[in-house]
Amino acid sequence: MKTKYIDLISQTFEFPQEQFEVEDNELIFNGVPLMDIIKQYGTPLKITYLPKISENIQKARRWFNVAIAKADYQADYHYCYCTKSSHFEFVLSEVLKNDVHIETSSAFDLNLIEVLEEQKMFDKENFILCNGFKKQQYIDNIAMMLDKGYVNTIPILDNIHELDMLDAAVNTKCKIGIRIAAEEEPRFEFYTSRLGIRYNDIIPLYLHKIKNNPKFELKMLHFFINTGIQDTAYYWNELSKCISLYCDLKKICPELDSLDIGGGFPIKTSLSFEYDYEYMAEEIVAQIKNICNREGVPEPDIFTEFGSYTVGEASAVLFSILQQKRQNDRELWDMIDSSFMTTLPDTWAIDQQFIILAVNNWDKEYERVFLGGLTCDSQDFYNSEASLNAVFLPKIRASLPTQESNDYFDEDPQYIGLFNTGAYQESVGGYGGIQHCLTPAPKHIIIYRDEEGELCTKLFAKEQSYKSMLKILGY
Ligand SMILES: Cc1ncc(COP(=O)(O)O)c(C=O)c1O
Repeated sequence: MKTKYIDLISQTFEFPQEQFEVEDNELIFNGVPLMDIIKQYGTPLKITYLPKISENIQKARRWFNVAIAKADYQADYHYCYCTKSSHFEFVLSEVLKNDVHIETSSAFDLNLIEVLEEQKMFDKENFILCNGFKKQQYIDNIAMMLDKGYVNTIPILDNIHELDMLDAAVNTKCKIGIRIAAEEEPRFEFYTSRLGIRYNDIIPLYLHKIKNNPKFELKMLHFFINTGIQDTAYYWNELSKCISLYCDLKKICPELDSLDIGGGFPIKTSLSFEYDYEYMAEEIVAQIKNICNREGVPEPDIFTEFGSYTVGEASAVLFSILQQKRQNDRELWDMIDSSFMTTLPDTWAIDQQFIILAVNNWDKEYERVFLGGLTCDSQDFYNSEASLNAVFLPKIRASLPTQESNDYFDEDPQYIGLFNTGAYQESVGGYGGIQHCLTPAPKHIIIYRDEEGELCTKLFAKEQSYKSMLKILGY
């Protein structure tokens, strides 16, 4: 009977597969032998493999450009990176190697862009799409960027009041966009998104407040669907409503020439993940073209703002199993050396599932376990791989601690990884602050390739120290 961990994975999934393979019973992630990294840096450890970011950007750009060529679409595609998914400098500097534009969501994002421009990573001509509900500081920063010559800074109105605020703050001519408040998917607890302006208010807003104001030029219509870009009736329906509104507006607003379809390309959160990106890009481009042609309106430039898709698949978190605890006949806990709640807050907050795999011991038998984090919170656990509905890991030797050693995994520790964790976890959970039970933020390393293609690593941050926490706490 095949009872090894490697059998379980290769019989349940297509394996090996893009991003994951096994050599000598140890896992390789994006071409990186993880045991080498663990031997060098220990656990708990966050890793980011930078080349994956550029790879994903280039793939998406290719899908859209191929779709545009196939449909003989008469306008261009622009890739924007949505900074809120990860603001780290090492992420932005990799993203910007790919001639990418930026979408912002708050005032400080614009200060961040200034730093990137000073370091010659960002060009003043690039698009800066300013989304989000805007407080005065954000409006002032937009005005500052325009004054400093960031000519393609485009505030996207989230509400009608923002137009007056911009009018008061901005001294130059200013391109603007409008965000449509999309209808939420039927299962959601609200009907209409609180973000953006209602469909019916958009044309009156243009006619009464924008058309005759020489300062503003309405260039862009934007919508973002919370559930992401999915091949569902709901998504296609929302997209077609948005394109129809674009056409109605274009007929009275000749300067309108861009449609921003937001973020929402999904990433692999399970080894059985299947998503036809190419088809989706082709279908989106074809729908926009068809509706525009039917309405006799020129096709708009298409903008996307992929966050998760840009950075998610570049990162992972690696843990060791510190100890195994059997709490009853059915509940066997593998205790990790950190916390799920603090390192991957989405696992707790929205039951987000990530790919979870053993890093070593793939030749051992497997067993079903629950994974426990170290905080005292009963919610600090992880127990469900998306396709298996449970977590299976190589079997751990169930010997009791001896007099000589309390640590019964000394010789053969089990390491595990949660993968494709690069988006939103630090934005949501905070970074380097105070977290549950004073759990320190793990060490973080960056992995890249040198000019010869050799793998190199760089320590981005040490494990958080008690001193940094006590300082924050006022000691
Ligand atoms: C306006 C807007 N654009 C882009 C994104 C990025 O979405 P994703 O990370 O799913 O690509 C978001 C996410 O909340 C958003 O609100």
